[in-house]
Amino acid sequence: MSVEWDKLFSEQAMNIKPSPIRELLQYTKKPGVISFAGGNPDPLAFPVAEFASAAIVLGRNGMDVLQYGATDGYGPLKDFLAEWMAGRMGRVTNYDEMLITTGSQQGMDLLCAALIDKGDAILVEDPTYPGAIHTMRNRGASFITVPCDKDGMIADLLPEKIEEARKSGVKIKFIYTIVNFQNPSGAVLSGERRKKLLEIAEKYDLLIFEDDPYGHLRYEGEHEPTIFSMDNSNRVVFACSFSKILAPGARVAWIVGSPEIIKKMTLVKQGADLCTSVVTQALVAEYCVKGHLDGFLPKIVSHYAKKCQGMAEVFAKHLPKDAEYAVPRGGFFFWVKIPGVDSKELFMKGIERGVAFVNGPAFFANGGGEDCIRACFTFARPDDLEEGAKRLAQAIGDMKAK
Ligand SMILES: Cc1ncc(COP(=O)(O)O)c(C=O)c1O
Repeated sequence: MSVEWDKLFSEQAMNIKPSPIRELLQYTKKPGVISFAGGNPDPLAFPVAEFASAAIVLGRNGMDVLQYGATDGYGPLKDFLAEWMAGRMGRVTNYDEMLITTGSQQGMDLLCAALIDKGDAILVEDPTYPGAIHTMRNRGASFITVPCDKDGMIADLLPEKIEEARKSGVKIKFIYTIVNFQNPSGAVLSGERRKKLLEIAEKYDLLIFEDDPYGHLRYEGEHEPTIFSMDNSNRVVFACSFSKILAPGARVAWIVGSPEIIKKMTLVKQGADLCTSVVTQALVAEYCVKGHLDGFLPKIVSHYAKKCQGMAEVFAKHLPKDAEYAVPRGGFFFWVKIPGVDSKELFMKGIERGVAFVNGPAFFANGGGEDCIRACFTFARPDDLEEGAKRLAQAIGDMKAK
């Protein structure tokens, strides 16, 4: 008798949906396809030699580094990050306010495990990062979506949405915002809206999850202060990652918040993986302490700034005049609206023409974005940007000719 899986799978497993981006990746691997799809860093820019030189820590501290580690993270890495981030965080954060996680993705999963009961709502940007929708949904969350413009989440819309949800008995736990060079829109939450968001969170007693994997990758203009640094009531949980500023293969990130939430998340993490790989944390710590991170950041910022400019030029040259987009001032992404074109169909036309991107609906928790696409400029080779833009324009032409 064969296994009746449907009777065995948990409710959570039965409701799980594949990540739309990971689903698309199979097409992007087709030979000859230029990929603007996954939010991948440029592999040619990885600091391979510097990272390899950090392996010296294994010989020097092998007896510690090859052992199980503390669940909250490898001490030297936490010490480095607390100092390194002090400017952004407004102060040196304390040891019990930081947890090292296996990517920011784990950070958000642990936060949801600590806060979300089935049906609890999260206020999310419309559009937002599909990986967040995936994790949050798996943990039983429902979503209240908040439209965005070029200055990020439109904070003024929140009070009405919160009050409406509360009237119908929905419990809202936190506001999720990707503050800098948002994935996918590229928007930066303005300073004024950061303050307003915090005031609203205080008024309605909500937490804010400030997700900031792209904040260090600013190509022009001044950094906005973190919401964390403005917070006097311990309600902001801030996450950052080495994925975009060093290498996603390291799977090392950090999350900072009040000791109460960090302690709960640490307990959940104990059950998930005991600790993030001490070996990789030690490599990352050694790399950072040796000054390589500070040496690499200006290089990668100028490298990506050029690629961003490159995509801006070829999009201006090749995309149809009615395509709407803003050139981002940092991060990885162009968010393009192509009025009247269904992006799912466009995706398949794009694959036929030899270019891939992510279609809009993947970024909308409760539906929408049919005529939008996200194009990542960091991964493709500089020489391929123009050919990719031409192919995209041809695919749009194919759609319009139908
Ligand atoms: C907004 C956002 N948050 C979190 C993540 C997850 O990053 P990590 O590689 O640190 O898990 C990503 C990855 O693309 C992202 O875009």
